[in-house]
Amino acid sequence: MDYTKYKILIIGDSNVGKTSLLLRHSDNKFTEKTAGTIGIDYRSKTYFRGDKRYDLQIWDTAGQERFRNVTKSYFRDAHGVLVVFDLNDPLSFTSVRAWLEMLYLETGKSKEDLVIILVGNKSDLLCTVSLEDIQTLASDAELSSYIQTSAKEGTRVDEMFESLLDKLVDKGSEIKAAEGCNLVEKKYNAANGKCC
Ligand code: GTP
Repeated sequence: MDYTKYKILIIGDSNVGKTSLLLRHSDNKFTEKTAGTIGIDYRSKTYFRGDKRYDLQIWDTAGQERFRNVTKSYFRDAHGVLVVFDLNDPLSFTSVRAWLEMLYLETGKSKEDLVIILVGNKSDLLCTVSLEDIQTLASDAELSSYIQTSAKEGTRVDEMFESLLDKLVDKGSEIKAAEGCNLVEKKYNAANGKCC
């Protein structure tokens, strides 16, 4: 069966819940104590829209500064991006603009070439970032949409991934999805004993 493959990045500061969002979506699991992501990892997930198959290769990046060079070397060829901040941590929200700049620089793409969703995670906690500031950022940066999630409670997590795929499919021909592995993926797979 023919299928389309999209590369998705989850980016944002350390501790905002990137790994937790991916684990909630792929395994329906949540852990209170997580080990920070070292470098990068990915999961593949298959979706169907009518008789069409879509494979999302979802890359979970490390937010810690010391892994920044490794992290950004995997940005290339991305189609969709979840930029995550912690609703309870204003500093992680302030970092969003820097993550977007790094994304455009490393992918060589503009916002028109990508589907970018801004994600405020940990909605189960007290929100200390104002909704007004979030809306201003989403509108200034012309992001595709904004969603509030809780990886802990599973709130809107699946909806977020489904919505990202819908937007990628809607964008259709503007985004050239990859078939097979690109060079960056091959390098990662060879180093981690994975195959395409
Ligand atoms: P790095 O790998 O260092 O970049 O961190 P990360 O962004 O992947 O964060 P991670 O998923 O490891 O989560 C960090 C901490 O936040 C962990 O203790 C999680 O249990 C917690 N956490 C993640 N999502 C939520 C959430 O929705 N609500 C609450 N209350 N805690 C969360």
